[in-house]
Amino acid sequence: MPENTSKLSPSITAMIRLDHMHVLAAAHRYHACTPWWRKRAIVNGVCAALEIHAQLEEEIFYPALERALGNEETLAKSRPQHDEMRATIARLRATGPEDAAYDGLFYQLIREVVHHVADEETILLPDAERLLKSELRSLGAAMTKRRMQLVGERPGEIALNTAKTFPVATVLLASAVLLALRHCLPKARCRSRAASADGTTSS
Ligand SMILES: [Fe+2]
Ligand SMILES: [Fe+2]
Repeated sequence: MPENTSKLSPSITAMIRLDHMHVLAAAHRYHACTPWWRKRAIVNGVCAALEIHAQLEEEIFYPALERALGNEETLAKSRPQHDEMRATIARLRATGPEDAAYDGLFYQLIREVVHHVADEETILLPDAERLLKSELRSLGAAMTKRRMQLVGERPGEIALNTAKTFPVATVLLASAVLLALRHCLPKARCRSRAASADGTTSS
């Protein structure tokens, strides 16, 4: 990735905190009385986000931190904690939202996530900000690049689950895009007509 792009990138630690916030915000949408189709969308969205997040940390963040920290205790526990979450995700996927065990499995997954996120946010991220200062943005850029590839492998799944998990936010975003288009298109048409009248028609 070009050096300028790296300089403009958010730091890897900011991205990791944002991912954690996103997953926990989605989890807060889940209640025992939530309709089954929405429970499934929330669970699928949270599971996909966790899988991508864990892979990004294992490929980019943990190796950089291992180089700086060596064999630190919390860091050494991180991959096994990811594997624990992956096992719970596999059990959730083998169960449907109509099953009595579904709620309990999802709450178990969120307890595992909260415990793991607490370790990262109180120990590993501050360590990274202390020890990897000059690398944080370039690592963030590497994480964005790899995220694009991983999200690209499952685009429809992520967009659909996000829309069902945050329906109001999705409608507001879509409305904002439509408003922006309505605002911009007439101006673009006027410019195009003016250019035609001047004989400088654009292609
Ligand atoms: Fe994390
Ligand atoms: Fe993690």
